[in-house]
Amino acid sequence: MADIRLEGVGHSYDGGRTWAVKPMTWTWRSSRAYALLGPSGCGKTTLLNIISGLITPTEGRIFFDDRDVTEVSTRGRDIAQVFQFPVLYEEMSVYDNLAFPLRNRKVPKPEVDRRVRQVSRLLGLDQVLSRRSRRLDAGRQQIVSLGRGLVRSQVAAVLLDEPLTVVDPALKWTLRSKLKEIHRDTGHTLIYVTHDQTEALTFADEVVVLNDGAIVQAGEPSELFLSPSHEFVGHFIGSPGMNMLPAEIAGDVVRVGQEDVGRVGEPLPPGPVRIGVRPEFVRITRAGTSPGVPARVTAIDRMGAYDLVHTLVGEHQVIAKAEAGSAYRPDAVEFLHFPADRTFLFRDEVRCGSLAPLNGRGQA
Ligand SMILES: Nc1ncnc2c1ncn2[C@@H]1O[C@H](COP(=O)(O)OP(=O)(O)OP(=O)(O)O)[C@@H](O)[C@H]1O
Ligand SMILES: [Mg+2]
Repeated sequence: MADIRLEGVGHSYDGGRTWAVKPMTWTWRSSRAYALLGPSGCGKTTLLNIISGLITPTEGRIFFDDRDVTEVSTRGRDIAQVFQFPVLYEEMSVYDNLAFPLRNRKVPKPEVDRRVRQVSRLLGLDQVLSRRSRRLDAGRQQIVSLGRGLVRSQVAAVLLDEPLTVVDPALKWTLRSKLKEIHRDTGHTLIYVTHDQTEALTFADEVVVLNDGAIVQAGEPSELFLSPSHEFVGHFIGSPGMNMLPAEIAGDVVRVGQEDVGRVGEPLPPGPVRIGVRPEFVRITRAGTSPGVPARVTAIDRMGAYDLVHTLVGEHQVIAKAEAGSAYRPDAVEFLHFPADRTFLFRDEVRCGSLAPLNGRGQA
């Protein structure tokens, strides 16, 4: 197991006109479970294939600890990769499919048997070991592919590219926790690609958010939720995502329309900013009790466990999460309060500062 270090690594499929992965420097630390999260087309698969050696990057070098592997083949890198769709030998039994990566590397027979049985037990394949892979449904076949990726104990990393797409939703949860269990057992470095935030947040020690070929933020799930450093992370993570609202810095005060919503947490040049606050933290208050911005209610979504109150501040939508069965009504004017410790300032999509409470205004 080694740290996987990308130094200035970037890839273009069209001779440098556009970058599928923009040149980046980044280290995947040994033995951690990462989720690589981002929307379709942002470069996740390209990045994974660069790490495994299926793609030689247009720019940059790749190191496993101090060893430069940029020119080394996939096999030479000792990477196990699992793809979105089943990759297996259909005429072979499940057992032989699972054993293949080990036999291929001359692992002694008793050890092959031990590993195959261990992995198949974990993935619930022990009842079908003698069955031909062709005779399994697509979901089960994909679980065998997953097993093939996990069966080797000596690998530099296991890369999984949206591995549960064809698997039944109910099974997904089980398999994800199995994967976590396997990760705890083996201590492999895992990089799990997904565009599904729930999948990423439940699986990973660290979530790496990719947008438009660049890493915009990496951190523990709670960090991405509570402290997004980029607008993209604010709206991609969370459901619904973070509210973004145009505001103005005037002196040391942050203003939305005519209302002061707080002081700047640190000195910033005056001018336009956007404030970001998650629906979970927006408070609907009575006029006059704390700094509040007038907002017109446009709709209430009754979600069962909670209500989502949709409002307009001027022409900008702000959603507040409220208790289930709230009494808000469409067209009523309410006041929104943005708690200073949960509200951030953004310029050019990047977080540039924080909000501080207004002095002497009884702000919570
Ligand atoms: N073989 C290729 N030739 C040319 N362009 C490609 C190739 N593969 C990917 N691209 C382009 O590179 C960009 C990144 O693609 P990539 O497949 O890495 O994204 P992704 O995040 O894995 O997307 P998805 O979630 O849809 O799997 C996209 O604009 C895509 O169209
Ligand atoms: Mg992909």
